Amino acid sequence: MRKPLVAGNWKMNNPDESSKVLLENILEHAELLETQLLQEDNSSAIDIAVFPPSVYLKDAQEILTGSQLHWGTQNVSAYDEGPYTGEISASMIKGFGCDYVLIGHSERRCLYEKLELDQFVLDQIVAQKYEMAIEHDLIPIICIGETAEDYASGKTEEVIARLLDVLIAHKGVKTLAKTVLAYEPVWAIGTGKSATPEWAQDIHAFMRKRIAEHDVDTADSIRIIYGGSVKPDNAKAIFAKPDVDGGLIGGASLDVEEFSQICLAAATK
Ligand code: 13P
Repeated sequence: MRKPLVAGNWKMNNPDESSKVLLENILEHAELLETQLLQEDNSSAIDIAVFPPSVYLKDAQEILTGSQLHWGTQNVSAYDEGPYTGEISASMIKGFGCDYVLIGHSERRCLYEKLELDQFVLDQIVAQKYEMAIEHDLIPIICIGETAEDYASGKTEEVIARLLDVLIAHKGVKTLAKTVLAYEPVWAIGTGKSATPEWAQDIHAFMRKRIAEHDVDTADSIRIIYGGSVKPDNAKAIFAKPDVDGGLIGGASLDVEEFSQICLAAATK
């Protein structure tokens, strides 16, 4: 049984004190949720993680330490240390008490695309970041998804298979079990146009099948979450699908009421 995960990607929002206020509010709501949802063995029904901008990690650490909530960063360097201006290493991130890190988000990929790097090269960079995260005991949430153009030309599975194959070739299939995969169709991000639950299910099942070709246990145990315009009114139907193990939430994670409702939908899946 895979425990659902709801992750809030704040992106570059909530400057200054508003980050602290949101962290405090999320903590308060999560504690309420926790008391409603505590399972018989006292474990929580879901994992919840937040990803504030890195400059607010210390606030996250101060406010969330000792709670059931997890936190992490929206990116990690592909290198350990050295002359990489503006980058943050996995060991630095770990030093702020993070458990998770987002890797390969399409909003970061498109920065590289402006440099006209090939998609396969981008997948290799994602694989290096994944390796760094694993080496420092962070759980990478590896984002994967097709553009509107790929979608229109029926290339969704090709795009997804390419990254999965690179990840498996890089560290072997068993290591993949230490990650979370996030299917995030680019056309659904921030557009209000979520994938249908059926589409999400089909793609998640495709991902699991591709992994199962290498190792059935990894395919069964890995969490695959969905991201792209998840809101309280569509979360329940998307999370109800058997291969959808929760969500990666953008806009709605900035509103504590909406985020809590989405967490509740995942917890009562
Ligand atoms: P939205 O939920 O705002 O569409 O963003 C999804 C996302 O990019 C999460 O990483």
